[in-house]
Amino acid sequence: MSEIHSASAIEILDSRGRPTLLASCRLSDGSTGQASVPSGASTGAAEALELRDGDPNRYAGLGCLKAVANVNETIHPALSGRQFATQADLDRHLIDLDGSPNKSRLGANAILAVSLAFCRAQAAQRQLPLYAHLARMAGLQPRLPQPMINLFSGGAHAGGQVAIQDVQIVLPGASSMRRTLEVASDVFRAAAALASEQFGMRLLRADEGGLAPAFASSEAMLQSAVAAIESAGYRPGDDVALTVDVAASQFHAAGRYLIDGESLERAQMVDLLDQWARNYPVISIEDGLDEADWTGWQLLYKRLADQVMILGDDLLCTNPGRIQRAIATDTANSALLKVNQIGTLTEALEACMLAKRAGWKVVISARSGETEDDWLADLGAGWAGDYIKVGSITQSDRLAKYNRLLYLEQVDGLRLPG
Ligand code: PGA
Ligand code: ZN
Repeated sequence: MSEIHSASAIEILDSRGRPTLLASCRLSDGSTGQASVPSGASTGAAEALELRDGDPNRYAGLGCLKAVANVNETIHPALSGRQFATQADLDRHLIDLDGSPNKSRLGANAILAVSLAFCRAQAAQRQLPLYAHLARMAGLQPRLPQPMINLFSGGAHAGGQVAIQDVQIVLPGASSMRRTLEVASDVFRAAAALASEQFGMRLLRADEGGLAPAFASSEAMLQSAVAAIESAGYRPGDDVALTVDVAASQFHAAGRYLIDGESLERAQMVDLLDQWARNYPVISIEDGLDEADWTGWQLLYKRLADQVMILGDDLLCTNPGRIQRAIATDTANSALLKVNQIGTLTEALEACMLAKRAGWKVVISARSGETEDDWLADLGAGWAGDYIKVGSITQSDRLAKYNRLLYLEQVDGLRLPG
């Protein structure tokens, strides 16, 4: 049993300089935990509500003082002095306290911050590293997830210079996290050199630290990624493969996909993705179609699910109900897990286990707005994610997670599978 002494929060800034929350939770025996919450830019319509102040005089309306007050003035008095045996007990209490279907009363940012801070406090109380506590909670054997590392960005993370959002690299046969990051660094340097040669540009970085030159088309991003892999001395596909976050909801309007100067019907969009998967070493396509275009997703699934990961982000929103529907209707075969899309650890774990039981791959994911907090690395290891998606290797908000994974490998002895 863990008796809560206090829950509190303050407003801090994320990697885009926008406000977010840092929460603290203190148990009666003195164990404490702190956590900060990330924030998205290409958010799914079915996400839980991130409460913002809407006051145009502070941070263009993006302030989080209402959410902070909800922690300090509503959640704290409701939790203080109460005993919770498990994370699920605490989270159920928070969900009931909110009482809305999408956490709009207290804010998913307020609720998740407390959920995570309590998790860290319980780990401290049990004298467990966070990943081990999370693994025990899930009943899973911890292991390191394979990183999907951001190389090039477009879409909402890079001013929309190209329609698609991310081209990332993955090392299918990497023996260690250490080697993965060495190779990623080689490929990133090669990509930067090629970009400055080709575009004569200063190396501007997108929200997740990826390179964002003015590519002529989405396909040019894939071509340049392959060129960077080769130029760094690796074999595309065998040594280093690609994953794509199409983030198609961002360029879908009135039933059409507006990409690279064309207006495509869903079947044509599926053809385009099929072509990419055949011509480039792409092992995963995230949000290849709009979040409401279930028919399009099913077409893509029929076409490619036996070869590539059909990965749902905006489509699924870490929502157990939506994942259940996608399993039942052959709509996807992999789930992106972003805990702030749903708002508590317990509901995110339910989503994770549903996906795993269906034989899906699970990708534990950061948001485009992150902080220096590294809990996501422990979540990826503790919940045995197949992959972890954190962004590039050039900003401290991203590196906090990669560095924690390096630590878990070299000090705690966790391993990549295979
Ligand atoms: P977001 O995007 O964090 O800006 O919503 C990340 C992603 O689409 O994977
Ligand atoms: Zn995405």
